[in-house]
Amino acid sequence: MTDVTAEKSNEVKATAAASGASATERFQAKERSEAASGKERVSTLASEVLAAVHDVIRRHKVTYAEYDALKAWLIQVGLDGEWPLFLDVWVEHVVEEVNNEARPGSKGTIEGPYYVPGAPALSADAALPMREGESGTPLVFQGQVRSADGTLLPGALVDIWQADADGLYAQFAPNLPEWNLRGSVTVDEKGTFRIRTVEPAPYQIPTDGSCGKLIAAAGWHAWRPAHLHLKVSAPGHQTLTTQLYFRGGEHVTDDIASAVKPELVLDPAPAADGNGHEVHYDLELAPEQ
Ligand SMILES: [Fe+2]
Repeated sequence: MTDVTAEKSNEVKATAAASGASATERFQAKERSEAASGKERVSTLASEVLAAVHDVIRRHKVTYAEYDALKAWLIQVGLDGEWPLFLDVWVEHVVEEVNNEARPGSKGTIEGPYYVPGAPALSADAALPMREGESGTPLVFQGQVRSADGTLLPGALVDIWQADADGLYAQFAPNLPEWNLRGSVTVDEKGTFRIRTVEPAPYQIPTDGSCGKLIAAAGWHAWRPAHLHLKVSAPGHQTLTTQLYFRGGEHVTDDIASAVKPELVLDPAPAADGNGHEVHYDLELAPEQ
């Protein structure tokens, strides 16, 4: 008799090992601006990071055994390709906070490691690409894209990507169609969109690599609450990168990535046709500075 549970668990483990390396390759291929910091800025930031580390060592009287364990772990994070995962889970949320705290319009949050540009173009009223009989509760996600002053933004793009009902992302997990539950929606002349999808599941960040070792050693959990990822753009406006969560969902109050904000929690209602849920959420973009 086949042990289906063991097979499933092996499949997810293989996924976890592959996704770290995949996130590193994708990041290295990404276009990014040249470091714009002068020597003084680099010196200030590097000195203060080191001073914070020295302070922890002094306060906790870190031993040589602990120092060696740290070195071994840091080396392994790189070998596992998990620096993008580590940084996006435990550091990015503060970078997002300080960069966007004064920005008008909808709240943003972290992008995370699983965005892939170039998703299939979809019309304003469309279903995300999904498998025949895609499992999960059907969800209709609709809303309007506006400028922060209320001006409608026809032609805005709503890029959406999400995990499936098993918590897995296309292009980071094996055996999923390339663009499963990923799409780039052009809103209509009123700035509105209506996207048919399924509710994503909460997922654990990969636990079989170095980040998982840290989580196990510290006795933490590895869960992210279920969420939709969005990247919303329109001419003359700053791109909004955000995530939307589900009220009452598991781990909404203890997200490992600390990315939940109260403004980003959806309240889905039963769908009018009795099939799943629907929710309305408007997105407001800040004008370019
Ligand atoms: Fe995610």
